[in-house]
Amino acid sequence: MTSNNTHKDWWKQAVVYQIYPRSFKDSDGDGLGDIAGITSRMGYLRDLGVDAIWLSPFYPSELADGGYDVIDYRDVDPRLGTMDDFDAMVAAAHSQGLKVVVDIVPNHTSDRHPWFQEALGAAPGSAQRERYIFREGRGCDGEIPPNDWLSMFGGSAWQRVDDGQWYLHLFARQQPDLNWKNPDVHEDFIRTLRFWSDHGTDGFRVDVAHGLAKDLSSRSLEELGRWPSQAQPTADGDHPLWDRPEVHDIYREWRRVFDEYDPPRFAIAEAWVAPEHQHLYASEKELGQVFNFEFAKANWCPQELRTAIVKGLDCAREAGSTTTWVMSNHDVPRHASRYALPQVRTRGYHQIANDWLLRNGESYIEDRDRGTRRARAAIMLEAGLPGSVYVYQGEELGLFEVADLPWDRLEDPQSRNSRGPFCVKGRDGCRVPLPWRADDEPRPAAWNPKFGEGASFGFSPQERAGSPACEPHLPQPLWFRHFAVDREDNDPTSMLQLYRKALSLRQTLLTATRDTGLTLLTTESFDDRSTIAYSRMTTRKDRRFVSITNFGSEPVPLPHGTVVLASADPLGDSIPQDTTVWMLTDV
Ligand code: NOJ
Repeated sequence: MTSNNTHKDWWKQAVVYQIYPRSFKDSDGDGLGDIAGITSRMGYLRDLGVDAIWLSPFYPSELADGGYDVIDYRDVDPRLGTMDDFDAMVAAAHSQGLKVVVDIVPNHTSDRHPWFQEALGAAPGSAQRERYIFREGRGCDGEIPPNDWLSMFGGSAWQRVDDGQWYLHLFARQQPDLNWKNPDVHEDFIRTLRFWSDHGTDGFRVDVAHGLAKDLSSRSLEELGRWPSQAQPTADGDHPLWDRPEVHDIYREWRRVFDEYDPPRFAIAEAWVAPEHQHLYASEKELGQVFNFEFAKANWCPQELRTAIVKGLDCAREAGSTTTWVMSNHDVPRHASRYALPQVRTRGYHQIANDWLLRNGESYIEDRDRGTRRARAAIMLEAGLPGSVYVYQGEELGLFEVADLPWDRLEDPQSRNSRGPFCVKGRDGCRVPLPWRADDEPRPAAWNPKFGEGASFGFSPQERAGSPACEPHLPQPLWFRHFAVDREDNDPTSMLQLYRKALSLRQTLLTATRDTGLTLLTTESFDDRSTIAYSRMTTRKDRRFVSITNFGSEPVPLPHGTVVLASADPLGDSIPQDTTVWMLTDV
């Protein structure tokens, strides 16, 4: 396939494959995915048709939050490999025409980071403590936290240390927040950006990009009438924690570093901000692109998805950039499962409802055939759009959420802080190691026959230094065998084959034009209550690309033209429910 990667704006319409390194591929049999494992699967990624890989954190970490608690920003976790392995992985990616994006975590470090250890050993008011956010408590003995801010993972956002001061952690207590008013913090992150750029990295995903600037002089959140851990603030810009205007000074500084390189490095913000503010992060003077999570939050419902498309394109226009489309990632329940549930409309994110249904244990009712059918239609709806497409590892196999992981095997801090009637199992259900080989099937486990013990569907090699390999760090359910890469590779009707065809057509027909225009079609046959239809120009001057998704129970007549791909077969002269069709029509 012709690569989309040869010009400096490659990222504007890229397909980026997100790798959660500890669960992608284990090369040494310790049960943890690693960098050499990624290198060994570069051919798979090339054949899938992606333009880039994004690696979630692979840095030394205590794993209090899946690696988003970083001990050393400029090294590889020894359990995952070495810097030499990293360099070899980048070289392998580049030789296949793939770009490499790494995750930068600037809001907080690990509590094991040398800076935080120094801060704990230093006195209140010292320069070492100034790199973090330490405060005195309230009450006679300072025993009440400095304010009412809550951690995103539950409980107070403040943790007391031995000498009585408190430090701020918006996430786990092992993730102390950095003080971005301190020049040391700025300098160190600039060093980190240069370090990875010098090691061949092409871009950065910026974690919690909207959270770095905080206003600690602010009144309590209760007084301000805010939900304390409100992650997606409104657009007024005066929330004391999120999306403060000062945060943009940091990204303007980073842009100067990105522009030292040829081609300039790009970055994408993880910023859960009001859609009206997204474009600020994506401006060419700052990061370049911002995640648009509206697909991940939407139900399988044409109105919600159309709104997501319109808002995403509007935001991109305002930023002078392109938008991104995301259905799944390492933080949200897998979309094949979300679409397999009743599509309940909620006030906020339908995802919260689905989190509850999917992650509270075993009480959900999943219609997997429907989930698969919709996930097939969804990737085509998404991949035909202008902008970048983010694919989360395993979605190309059609994996479902592993909702019934045993409590005692969970790793995610969200589950640890959650008990009682609204308990959630957290995010591990979408982080289970990938199945690569169906015949490398584990035996049913004694502790729970739905899961496997021993082999790992090819995730780990069979042996580790002459002994059997360790169990995968999260257990794989036995139904994973149906989704193994080798099985899907040999099945022309599999999700994997659909992804390959869709990404290849996207590249040759659409992305190669570098045009980002799109016309939403509403006609009598494409009624907007039950369909989403759009058209785009193609590399063939006489032909237009048309994508039609039918959500409704009534079949939609096929317009004149040539069908180039359909998410469901067989197709007569109409498009059945939960199906997307791509066509070429006369201009
Ligand atoms: C966003 C990451 O995607 C998530 O996994 C992590 O827990 C938080 N940021 C904190 O770093």
